[in-house]
Amino acid sequence: MRPITVHALSGSLRAGSFNTHALRAAAALAPGGMTIDLDGLDADPPRNPIGDIPLYNDDEKEKGFPPSVVDLGRKIGAANALLIATPEYNFSIPGVLKNALDWLSRLPDQPLNDKPLAIMGAARGPVGTGRVQYHLRQVAVFVNMHPLNKPEVLISMAHTKFDEAGNLTDETTRGFIESQMKALYDWTLRISPETGG
Ligand SMILES: Cc1cc2nc3c(=O)[nH]c(=O)nc-3n(C[C@H](O)[C@H](O)[C@H](O)COP(=O)(O)O)c2cc1C
Repeated sequence: MRPITVHALSGSLRAGSFNTHALRAAAALAPGGMTIDLDGLDADPPRNPIGDIPLYNDDEKEKGFPPSVVDLGRKIGAANALLIATPEYNFSIPGVLKNALDWLSRLPDQPLNDKPLAIMGAARGPVGTGRVQYHLRQVAVFVNMHPLNKPEVLISMAHTKFDEAGNLTDETTRGFIESQMKALYDWTLRISPETGG
């Protein structure tokens, strides 16, 4: 299998985040050849780099990009694909995630441009982040990322699908994540045929 690397972003800063748990499950279920960089999300407690990013301010950007943005941009730029797991806040993108994407989208040598993207999400409610995922796809158009269409991973009633330690115990959901990771592998090589070659 040709090796590809995927950078993971969680849209939740919560230590017990179901979305961060889902990313850890994805890393474990990824096909051979695919390495998912959890970038601190696998620490105990998890460290989410988007929590270090200040609120976007164009005046501050003019003075220079914050190191937290430069560092994250460098890591995403070096990866072959991006995987975002996000909660839905008021039917849309959590501010912390949108803030990170806004900063990243202003970096020179735009790290999001042309990047294959897979989206998943976990919510306590029955819709399982269906609405935020479409808002994220809209943002992806502007920054020219290439979202994978299918399979979707919508983890509804998330509190019933993970155990106390954050392990994904629902077999159906594990199957969806495994299928999405396989599809992301193929999608990345289709978008960037030179990857890992
Ligand atoms: C500000 C706020 C808004 C929320 N809005 C929604 C929503 O629109 N749809 C939904 O399914 N859940 C909503 N929730 C509940 C989240 O699904 C729940 O908090 C989930 O656990 C967040 O993901 P996390 O575990 O990764 O932090 C909201 C929670 C917060 C704090």
